[in-house]
Amino acid sequence: MASLAELTTLQNEALSLIADADDVDALEAARIEWLGRKAGRITALLRSIKSVPADERAEFGEAVNALKALVTEHLARRQSELESGRTKRTSVDVTMPGRRLRLGRIHPIARATREMVEIFGRLGFACVEGPEVEDEWHNFVGLNIPPAHPARDPLDNYYLSDNVLLRSQTSTVQIRIMETQPPPVRVVAPGRVYRPDTVDAGHSNMFHQLEGLWVEEGVTFADLKSVLTTFARAFIGREARTRFLPSYFPFTEPSAEFYFSCLLCGGSGCPACKRTGWMEVGGCGMVDPNVFEAVGYDPEKVTGFAFGFGIDRSAMLKYGIKDIRLLFANDVRFLRQF
Ligand code: DAH
Repeated sequence: MASLAELTTLQNEALSLIADADDVDALEAARIEWLGRKAGRITALLRSIKSVPADERAEFGEAVNALKALVTEHLARRQSELESGRTKRTSVDVTMPGRRLRLGRIHPIARATREMVEIFGRLGFACVEGPEVEDEWHNFVGLNIPPAHPARDPLDNYYLSDNVLLRSQTSTVQIRIMETQPPPVRVVAPGRVYRPDTVDAGHSNMFHQLEGLWVEEGVTFADLKSVLTTFARAFIGREARTRFLPSYFPFTEPSAEFYFSCLLCGGSGCPACKRTGWMEVGGCGMVDPNVFEAVGYDPEKVTGFAFGFGIDRSAMLKYGIKDIRLLFANDVRFLRQF
């Protein structure tokens, strides 16, 4: 007698034979093999029921009869499929155009970030990251920003508790990286920053910055200008120019704001650059000796420069996006363009 497990194997065999029958002759052959009056395999099983021990007979009989019913049903269904020409194979219309798979896209911010990191990578900068939830030491104190400084106003920051806030700048990563390794350091650190600004076309309370830091013996402001100018030429185009205007940041001395020639008009003047031909990109400067002391570097031995700029703004300029909110709306109609 066949076991119940064997019946399942037989069932699979019978059903696939039926499904594979390409014409009525093949299907008839399958019917004879399984349900033929004389030598059908299921017919033989039915005959064997009476010789099964009495206590197993009911269960076995039920299983064999169920098998017979199932096979009969599949034979009938396949028969009508074959007769109406609706076979699996002929129901495929090979003249139909294929279904197009839509590929996902890289988000414009991710694209800009990758491109920037890649360019700085060619200049020898490693890419590092820091946490978005920070303490006051890394966001302010280590960066030479004193308690009374306006940047520390609780209304201008997202404080989570007394000493903990969402970082307001990626300059935090300068402190973190110098705390964990001796000079030389040459890194860029992209990431999100948070400020409670009112959201409009040009402002978001969450945006992205790219921080840069190069510390080594003998690094000068000339290196800073050369690195940022080389970056501008790679990011915007070979004709790009840079401009540095004196400014103030607590963690650099001297400090500067740096400008790139307008990405849109190339410097001749257009509405996007308010007809100046220049676009302010970010802040930079030579690392303040107080910052080196905070992280245990010897300011008599090493010098360095730092810079930081907005990734979102650069992406908007580069890809011609007019409203920063589009970057965070998660609308595929917008994102699909990139
Ligand atoms: N952290 C500054 C900001 O958020 C930008 C900045 C300015 C970064 C000067 C720097 C720098 O590294 O040297 O506005």
